[in-house]
Amino acid sequence: MKLTFKDRVFSLSREKKLATLLTLSNGRFAVRGVFELYPLSLGTLVSHVYDYVPIFYRELAVLPEVSKLKIIVDGKPLDFSSSRFQLKRTLSLNSGIVEAALKWKGYGGELEYFSYRLVHRKRKGLFLINATLNFRGYDKASLISYIDTSVGNYFINDQVMIKHYVVEQVRHANDTLLLTLRTLDNKYKVSIAMKNRISKFHERSFFNEHNVLGEVFTVGGNSSIEITKYVYIVRNIDSKNHAQDSLKNIQKLCEISLNKLFREHTGSWRRVWRRIGLSIRGDKHVEKALKFNAFHLLQVIDDNREYTILPARGLHGLGYRGHVFWDTEIYALPFYILFYPEYARKILMFRCKLLEQAKENARRNGYRGAQYPWESADDGFEATPKEIPLDFFGRRIIRIWTGEEEQHITADIAYAVNKYYEITGDKSFMKECGLKIIFETARFWASRVKYDELKDLYVIENVMGPDEYHPHVNNDYFTNLMAKYNLELAVKYFEKALKNNEWFNIVRELNINEDEVRLWDRISKKMFLPCFKNNLCEEFEGYFNLEDYVVQPNININIGEKHIPKSILEKIDRTQIIKQASVVLAHYLLSDKYGFSRDFIKKNFDYYFKRTTHASSLSLPVYAAVAAKLGLKELAYTMFKYAIYADLRDIYGNVEDGFHVGSAGGSWQAFLYGFLGLEISEHGINALPNIPSHWRYVKVKINVHGRSYLVEVSDGVLRVREI
Ligand code: BGC
Repeated sequence: MKLTFKDRVFSLSREKKLATLLTLSNGRFAVRGVFELYPLSLGTLVSHVYDYVPIFYRELAVLPEVSKLKIIVDGKPLDFSSSRFQLKRTLSLNSGIVEAALKWKGYGGELEYFSYRLVHRKRKGLFLINATLNFRGYDKASLISYIDTSVGNYFINDQVMIKHYVVEQVRHANDTLLLTLRTLDNKYKVSIAMKNRISKFHERSFFNEHNVLGEVFTVGGNSSIEITKYVYIVRNIDSKNHAQDSLKNIQKLCEISLNKLFREHTGSWRRVWRRIGLSIRGDKHVEKALKFNAFHLLQVIDDNREYTILPARGLHGLGYRGHVFWDTEIYALPFYILFYPEYARKILMFRCKLLEQAKENARRNGYRGAQYPWESADDGFEATPKEIPLDFFGRRIIRIWTGEEEQHITADIAYAVNKYYEITGDKSFMKECGLKIIFETARFWASRVKYDELKDLYVIENVMGPDEYHPHVNNDYFTNLMAKYNLELAVKYFEKALKNNEWFNIVRELNINEDEVRLWDRISKKMFLPCFKNNLCEEFEGYFNLEDYVVQPNININIGEKHIPKSILEKIDRTQIIKQASVVLAHYLLSDKYGFSRDFIKKNFDYYFKRTTHASSLSLPVYAAVAAKLGLKELAYTMFKYAIYADLRDIYGNVEDGFHVGSAGGSWQAFLYGFLGLEISEHGINALPNIPSHWRYVKVKINVHGRSYLVEVSDGVLRVREI
């Protein structure tokens, strides 16, 4: 399955979009999809490597660009602004390879160029690019293979660039280049080794000028040559001897045949697709878009490490500065749980590793237990900016409340831990830290709620729910319901621990006593939920008194805020317009736990659908899933299409900032839980399919409790069988 992109002119904005869509990664590092011959370097993103930055606290550091090649004919660099060319690029989802074919004419001659590149799925440090060139009509040509160390992180509308690294050493020996960097805060070191193998050349020389270093090969003007550029990246968290290791590896890899490296990589991707086994007969476009989303979701997981950091925009771009949000646990994680539970574990292990920091966050904010940050970088402290300057002089500043107020993330993580356990049955994870997360987050809520005497209920004041148009609200329905559930989980796992010695040791270690558990139970039973007799739940307390406004008058969906008059937009926080699924999401996540009726879910769905802008790409997948479960097939399918094409069609206009991990995961949920109607719990697999009528046959393979199942739907009938 391939995606093809053709160009006859260079366009910076298009190239930045393709940089995301054609990103290749193996979870350790990512090479973005810019064509290697274009004079544009966006740099390399290396997982875990963050550095301090004003405003955003810590951000993923943009490290040197490693993919570049440059061609010079008769002393002049290939020009892509006025010369004629045809460039065709192809991403093969089946094999994880990007190919580029270029025909270029100029300076009295022409050249044909073909390349393929990969970021090796198994050999974690390796990026390679192989290019074949045919020149005609020139006297002399040079080929340059280089690393660009001029790149850094841009912010404030690209007015400021911060370079997060210094180059500590550059060595060139035995035709191998070694570059060692360290981040400014000294936390990370990264070694990059580069070696080129070329079929023929007249002269070979090394250069290091103006932040660009590499090798130049001169060849005859009418010739064919083949070059392979190998790059090997090692971080200090992989090995203390990162420099030596990168050199050793590159040496070794150059001795292995390209064919073998290629086969290992493509073979590994083939196994991925066999394992997922997706087929949708009758809708190959949807199948392809789902595979595209799966491809990028799987690329960003490092299967060699105990835990993986999964930023909201993957390793594909600098959106949200590489921070991790609830997108990871609530939207993306279910995809991994069902297809790659071992990756899901690694994702949750990130939160385990940072549990102590979450406890410190709670302490700093005056609470007990563990409070996870709304945005997290590598160190687990709150990384949400409080204020974002829109210009260099700080004349225009936006105040951001999410870091202080979107506290629901703490319950979202506990929810995800339980979901993982229910579907995988991974007891060792629970023992290692899952239980601690559930208990410590419950402790947080017990200290966070307030008892309201008038209501004789517990309330949560001054938060922001998933709907970010309304800060400082009381009793946000989503937050209260998720907190209630978090507390219930803690009670449930305490009771389980009473019957399990190993688990009980954790209860002891955390000094949990029966009084504390009784309090959790009491709060969860007496949590205030702003719902009314007419079956409608209020987004938050007082929401129904706000000015009403309908954003979606019919089934043709208006995405974003551009359809809303300025006069309304200016006071959006005083209207009933919401940004994304929130009450509807709560029902989606918890309907099987609380047995919400179809009427109740539908009533709230109908109310909120009309008032949601879907300005976040997280919204439509959830609405699509719920619409499908409700049997609203046409509406569900319309929304699902928007969700699966969020990046491929750049629906949100910001694909250049990276891949939308949450919406990609969410669209898989809409497919599995919405259309296929899967219901998976500790008791087994159940399903009530609601697939579009033109899907003649659907097949996918999932993993539950360590077993693999083939799920098939044909003629509206679903079959699940163990394989
Ligand atoms: C959404 C959040 C989301 C964040 C990162 C925001 O626009 O409102 O829910 O976590 O983007 O994707």
